Amino acid sequence: MRLLEKNTYEEMSVLCGRILGAQVLLKPDCALGLATGSSPIGAYEELVRQYEGGLLDFSQVRTVNLDEYCGLKAEHNQSYRYFMEEHLFGKVNIKKENTFLPDGCAGDVEAECARYEELVAGMQVDLQLLGIGHNGHIGFNEPAEDFAAQVHQVKLAESTIKANSRLFKRMEDVPRSAVTMGIGTILKAKKILLIAGPDKADIVEKALYGPVTPQVPASALQLHGDVTVIISKQ
Ligand code: F6R
Repeated sequence: MRLLEKNTYEEMSVLCGRILGAQVLLKPDCALGLATGSSPIGAYEELVRQYEGGLLDFSQVRTVNLDEYCGLKAEHNQSYRYFMEEHLFGKVNIKKENTFLPDGCAGDVEAECARYEELVAGMQVDLQLLGIGHNGHIGFNEPAEDFAAQVHQVKLAESTIKANSRLFKRMEDVPRSAVTMGIGTILKAKKILLIAGPDKADIVEKALYGPVTPQVPASALQLHGDVTVIISKQ
């Protein structure tokens, strides 16, 4: 596990964007596992900057996102598909057919979970980007009795619903469930890159140095052989 400390969100984002960009340079047809939320926005901006500067070509890159809310159509401005279009896909030359997220509106959610698990396994993710929730969730794997092995539907924790409500007009509009990669799905990535701001310092410490327990889902990262964590002090 490598722990890199940066002073600011901007510095953390630039470093994270450079690591993601380096992966694209090393392997132009790589598979990137991507996250949404506030943490990766600056890293995606850095990737867009590199693309606009002629340093990166996304034409062969494939992406799989960690999760998607249930019940939000792709066009909804809080869906994770919308987020990815807005912050990355719409700004670089990635092919839309090479970008994948779970379908949060699938009629048969179980079948959708099985389809997405197979898709992610088939892609062999080269580098998986992660944020972390204040309760230690990664993807939407909330604290639980067991580590979920595969893609599954999850009921969001009250604290997660509250945290995410900042982006919705009304509390009632926040989806109560999501489809997420399981911890097992995430750990199959060849490399993992986690980013976290200063408000996550306590939970990052627990996850990296505390006991490995499903009560702190990110603690499972201790079981992976190639994890880089970038934290920002401010
Ligand atoms: C997002 C995701 C979540 C977030 C986490 C942190 O795809 O899977 O685990 O990474 O909730 O969110 P932010 O970055 O908004 O604090």
